[in-house]
Amino acid sequence: MISKEAVVIKPGKLFIDGKWVNSVSGKTFDTLNPAREEVITSIAEGDRADIDLAVAAARKAFEEGPWKKMDARDRGKILLRIMELIDKNKDELALLETLDNGKPISETTNADIPLAIDCFLYYAGWADKIHGETIPVRGEFFNYTLREPVGVVGQIIPWNFPLLMAAWKIAPALACGNTIVLKPAEETPLTALRLGEICQEAGLPDGVLNIVPGYGPTAGAALAEHMDVDKIAFTGAHTTGRIIMQAASKNLKRITLELGGKSPNIVFADSDIESAVDGAMTGIFFNQGEVCCAGSRLFLERSIHDEFVDKLSNKAANMRVGNPEDAGTQMGAQVSKEQLDKILGYIDVGKQEGAKLVTGGERCGEKGYFIRPTIFDAVDNNMKIAREEIFGPVVSAITFDDVDEVVRQGNLSVYGLAAAVWTKDIKKAHRLARDLKAGTIWINTYNALDAASPFGGFKQSGFGRELGVHALELYTQIKSVWINLGS
Ligand code: NAI
Ligand code: MG
Repeated sequence: MISKEAVVIKPGKLFIDGKWVNSVSGKTFDTLNPAREEVITSIAEGDRADIDLAVAAARKAFEEGPWKKMDARDRGKILLRIMELIDKNKDELALLETLDNGKPISETTNADIPLAIDCFLYYAGWADKIHGETIPVRGEFFNYTLREPVGVVGQIIPWNFPLLMAAWKIAPALACGNTIVLKPAEETPLTALRLGEICQEAGLPDGVLNIVPGYGPTAGAALAEHMDVDKIAFTGAHTTGRIIMQAASKNLKRITLELGGKSPNIVFADSDIESAVDGAMTGIFFNQGEVCCAGSRLFLERSIHDEFVDKLSNKAANMRVGNPEDAGTQMGAQVSKEQLDKILGYIDVGKQEGAKLVTGGERCGEKGYFIRPTIFDAVDNNMKIAREEIFGPVVSAITFDDVDEVVRQGNLSVYGLAAAVWTKDIKKAHRLARDLKAGTIWINTYNALDAASPFGGFKQSGFGRELGVHALELYTQIKSVWINLGS
């Protein structure tokens, strides 16, 4: 592992048109280490004027730059080079992410960074395989389609998987030949900025990727409503999603939204209980519960309920919560004071609503935004803690008696991002896969993800899909060309 001293942390600048610049206003903001409650460094604070410059650079790069003329396979090569450079710097990136976000180094090393690498690898392979079709139309015509990039793409990402979310957004957009203005979350700008350096080193032409850190209501809003941005891709809170949708309506830009969830994790009595317990742990405590697809509603069949809650609470109570830089740490700090307070607030609500607190339920230590893994039992699906996204290490256990009831209850949510089912009965598994309203269904596993498989929401969890071939559709548009072959 890399030593902390080997990570060079300098004040962050904006990355516009291939140059590292201060903000027009000259303002900066601090990014914090949430485990230590210490300032890591200052970052240039982008706002409307900087977004204007970044969009102009992206427009110029799209219309005039070498990017447009480059052979698709050579674009793929640049993506491959970005992938190699992330891989080469993976230890540094893992530590940087851990410092900025508070998540354990074991997770950044084994999940965030390798998944980002894989994402660039996957889309590098796509760059020269994105094409139109010939269509047998009626009459003396030759008709074909061109699949073209959408243009200038604005991407607004959250703080829970900062580098990975940047990869999910940037890699498919570049593979399709778009140019980008990325706004990282104000809580965690460091790895996105480092990725900007890597892209530059990989030979990405100036202006193709611009990175403007700043706050949501200023820099984010300016990007979402910008008249010269063709598409906005957003991941974050569903309330912000609504604002973005309104802002995007100004010039009818295309939008894809990946919002939150309240995903049901359903355990039947006929499942392998030990693996289901492990799955429930991963489902809610991975990344401190700051996961859009977290299994925050744990449905337990009545006959196994007591045994399951016992086993789960034992494991939860024994989790190593603490310094995210330690290799053995299993749960790190929540990203910010704001999130800490939000989660503690929900824990109070759960108690008031009459849910039974089995373990956790409090802050852990005096310094750093740590929370103990928390399990509420005897939760009713109508309680606030079962309806609203807590985005922390808090799971609500709900007892059920039969299959139809659990499907109905599972679907009783404004969200529909993911769902998991634990059973050895293949018929039941496939039936629930069909009947649960969610963009991802996991059978006897949790949090399985791959760059090749689509990810996104039903209902208020958003629309559009990331990853896989599906993301390519959303970063391209189709042109139909008619040629008269008649007289
Ligand atoms: P947020 O939605 O405010 O932040 C996500 C991104 O949107 C950030 O880059 C932020 O700067 C930007 N943003 C905020 N307001 C904006 C606006 N008016 N226009 C354009 N961009 C804007 O989420 P926040 O406040 O950090 O977290 C609040 C809750 O949202 C969390 O507790 C969690 O429930 C949910 N959330 C869900 C995520 C997911 O992966 N689906 C990720 C982050 C948060
Ligand atoms: Mg916010």
